[in-house]
Formats: sequence, C-alpha cells, structure tokens
Amino acid sequence: MQPTKELKIEHEAVIKVLQILDTISQRITEGKDISINDLETLLEVMKVFVDRCHHGKEEKILFEAMESVGIPKEGGPVGVMLYEHDNGRRYIGGMREAFEKFKYGDKEALNEFAANASGYTTLMYAHIDKENNILYPMAETYLSETAKIKLVQDFSMIQAQETGDGMYEKYFNLVEQLKANYL
Ligand SMILES: [Fe+2]
Ligand SMILES: [Fe+2]
Repeated sequence: MQPTKELKIEHEAVIKVLQILDTISQRITEGKDISINDLETLLEVMKVFVDRCHHGKEEKILFEAMESVGIPKEGGPVGVMLYEHDNGRRYIGGMREAFEKFKYGDKEALNEFAANASGYTTLMYAHIDKENNILYPMAETYLSETAKIKLVQDFSMIQAQETGDGMYEKYFNLVEQLKANYL
C-alpha cells in the first residue's frame, strides 16, 4: 500500500493544469483571444482540486502523519512545502483578481493574469518535483503500514469533503477537456 501513489496521480493532473496555464499565458502574450469560460474552469480546478483537495490531503493528513513520526513541520522539508502552498494561494488569488477585472471588460488585466500564472507554474513544477522525489519517498520510508492504511482512508474523507461526494472524477475530466483544447 503506497498512499503517496494517489497524490502522484493527482500531480499528473496538476502538471496538465500547469501546461494549460503556460499555453494560455503564451496566447495572452501573442494577443490572441482568451475564453472566459476556460479561465473560470481553470480557476475552479486550481482552487478546489489542486488547493483544497490535493493540498488539503497533504496539509491535514500526510504532513500531520509525518510529524507524528518525528519529521518536524517547521524548519525542514515539510515547512518548505507549507510555505510554497501559501505562495501558490497568493498566485491563485492574483489570477482570480485579474480574471474578475478581465470579465468586466478590462483586457489589460490579462497581463496581470499571465504574470501570476507564470509565477504559479514555476513554483508548482518545482514543488511537485520536490514532493515526488524527496518528501513522498521520505513518508513511505518512515510511516508504518498501519499509518499508511489510515492515510488512504483519511484522504477519501478530505476528497469527499472538498470536492463533494462522487465529484472527484469530475475534476480529472475537466482537466482532460481543457487539455484537448489547449495541448
Ligand atoms: Fe504540496
Ligand atoms: Fe502535492
């Protein structure tokens, strides 16, 4: 049983979101038309699926479990991950703010969207890389089999709470739809 496998599968979907954002930023730079609906969908995926669900599983479940086996939250790799989650939230907030201005007719706000999107993707590619290659292997090494079983159960609870019961798959489908349009 590898509870981090589930998180790595989510990372694959997050990476697609980042690639879509990069493509959208490129289109903004080239002055091409941008779909309001697609930006709205992306913002929902980032807020609900990436931040509340995926980062929720990490912050409320995985990092707590790691702390309980002696890996401190502050001053080490977990602290760095928490700091990066906060930065990610700031970039999502910046994208949301720019999007609202764009929605009400301010086309210049798209540049602000692209600047935040670029900060977010740079941060998140490196963040995912650190989790996949450093943090998750650390968790798999230090957590007991019993703790891992509990982790998977607790992940399902967060998932139902944050995405809505049975709605988790919807986010993977939204990412695939956007990917078909942009990648
Ligand atoms: Fe994370
Ligand atoms: Fe993650």
